[in-house]
Amino acid sequence: MNDIVPPFVNLAVFASGNGSNAVALIRAAQSGILAAKIVVLICDRPAAPVIEKAAALAVPVHVLPREEYADKAAHEQAILNILRQHKTDFIALAGYMRLLGTVLLRAFPQKIVNIHPSLLPKYKGLNAIEQAVSQGDPELGVTIHYVDAGMDSGEIIAQQKVYIADLSQPLTAIEAQIHRIEHELYIQTLQKIFSTFSHSSSQL
Ligand code: GRF
Repeated sequence: MNDIVPPFVNLAVFASGNGSNAVALIRAAQSGILAAKIVVLICDRPAAPVIEKAAALAVPVHVLPREEYADKAAHEQAILNILRQHKTDFIALAGYMRLLGTVLLRAFPQKIVNIHPSLLPKYKGLNAIEQAVSQGDPELGVTIHYVDAGMDSGEIIAQQKVYIADLSQPLTAIEAQIHRIEHELYIQTLQKIFSTFSHSSSQL
């Protein structure tokens, strides 16, 4: 066996909304650009467009609205059970609109990453692109970071600046440029992380 070839990673994607990043990751995995199998998509919002998009790409989708569980721990335990059924190694948050709690963070230490549309620590939280534009800041960007219990606060893995000279263009046009960079950076960064994993299952 060739020891240099990295193992395939069973990747779960969490999303709450439109799902452009989730779809980019699914397509990258299905076309072999990303050495991973998207084993499940977890969604907390029953009306989220990502649900149909992922299902159309033959990814198993589980929708778990938080309000159907007694508390955050019960919600995360239900998610964890599904992740285990799908033998999940690693989690990529892709527009998942909820802070993670101890159940998931303890089950996947340093194995959960998030993407955020700003140069963190600038513009944490919701509507990061809008926050930057409304402050007249042309230096936008994308950050990939490990997830901790805070809001967009974990260790930064990769960042890419996106300079927007014309801030008067429609917000949707600016968002489209940022999303394009997001998709590329997310795939590249995950690929780098996965290539450092060895065949030893203890590292997955
Ligand atoms: C992205 O901008 C991502 O960085 C942020 O939420 C947005 C999700 O967009 N965390 P999409 O649903 O992937 O299109």
